Amino acid sequence: MAERQAARDVIDYTRSDFPPDFQFGVAASSYQIEGSRFGGCGTSHWDTFAATPGNTARGEDGSVACDHYHRWPRDLDLVSGAGLDCYRFSISWARVLPEGTGKPNAEGLDFYDRLVDGMLERGIKPFATLYHWDLPAPLADLGGWRNRDIASWFADYTEVVGRRLGDRLAATAPINEPWCVAWLSHFMGHHAPGLRDIRATARAMHHVLLAHGRSIEAMRALGMRNLGLVTNFEYAAPADDSTEAKAAAHLYDGIYNRWFLDGVFKKAYPSEVLAGLGPHMPEGYEDDFDVIATPVDWVGINYYTRKLIAPDGTGQFPALKEVEGPLPKTLMDWEIYPEGLAFFMRRVHQDYAKGLPIYVTENGMASPDRLAGGKADDPDRIEFLNRHLAQVRRAIEEGIPIKGYIVWSLLDNYEWALGYEKRFGLVHVDFETLERTPKASWHALKGALAAG
Ligand code: FCB
Repeated sequence: MAERQAARDVIDYTRSDFPPDFQFGVAASSYQIEGSRFGGCGTSHWDTFAATPGNTARGEDGSVACDHYHRWPRDLDLVSGAGLDCYRFSISWARVLPEGTGKPNAEGLDFYDRLVDGMLERGIKPFATLYHWDLPAPLADLGGWRNRDIASWFADYTEVVGRRLGDRLAATAPINEPWCVAWLSHFMGHHAPGLRDIRATARAMHHVLLAHGRSIEAMRALGMRNLGLVTNFEYAAPADDSTEAKAAAHLYDGIYNRWFLDGVFKKAYPSEVLAGLGPHMPEGYEDDFDVIATPVDWVGINYYTRKLIAPDGTGQFPALKEVEGPLPKTLMDWEIYPEGLAFFMRRVHQDYAKGLPIYVTENGMASPDRLAGGKADDPDRIEFLNRHLAQVRRAIEEGIPIKGYIVWSLLDNYEWALGYEKRFGLVHVDFETLERTPKASWHALKGALAAG
């Protein structure tokens, strides 16, 4: 560790505190930054979800977002300017295939072509995600993730993207955060399509993994390399010492964390989750595990927080609730619990990936808008990064093959149902003028990456 003080405006580490091939990066996603109204992009279910009153804060949507569609050269300069090695971006299915299938939007493919070349020209490694939630509305009309055909639609879309960009991508993951795609969006109803239906949920929970597997197969067939799985995890702790709270936390962990890892690495789903979802699963789902378990080359961990879990007393599956925890929280009301990141790095390595490279593909926090006098101070974010980087270092010392750490996010952006108020960026965005101002955390990272 660098001898510098753990000042609140400095990253405590330099490159030499990490292995030579370790990658530092930032992440963003298409719908959250590009502006879905530009460039012949098709309507996605996020456009229609946001157009429905009550679904998003202040009715905000991603139609303009950060106007990254036009301002991408400046944004890539901000990635390379900080000395970062990789940029984890996503490709909008609706921009590439406005109807979801069939004829590509040439303008959309050209955009990603320029974007990828723009990264390579700046020495940035492109880490692509093929689906970060912008499902074409015509496919939502056909049932979206509830429809088994989505696996084939997604494999076809994968091929379109792979043929055009596959030769230049450093790493590719089919789907960002299957839990959000399935549970958050079909059981909790917080994200598009905003359903609250257990049959829809069970189908989405399975089809999202089937689509993942088919997409990996399609990319392998094209000769693409370095293909991964990106899942989000929440550390589930029982709210008290009771057996009931422990069982509730175990079930939460099963739904949120183990379902996807078990499917991909063990060809099975956790029995305690199947106890509730079983009656609603698509018939013959067990026959899909060979496809779901198509080997991947790396695993990406998205990690933000932990949850305290207790039974909710209803007896109706999953019969659990979140209880407010005592730790300091971010603007999302998420407890800051860096030890959870270490827990998941260990779990993924020991119980599942067994030697595969692991990346932290998202980690970061929302903090209040503090732009003043052309400067944006975010000491809380710098401290957050320091505390999580400490866990990454610890995991590496334990021999876990952590190959990179990617901050969410490059820019303040559209935080889905919560709109533009939750600012995760290393770079401040003024949503009136769309002007970008690097925050203190951006400068701190730049300093750390240049040193050592
Ligand atoms: C993750 C999402 C990302 C962003 C962060 C805060 O779940 O992948 O788009 O919303 O949370």
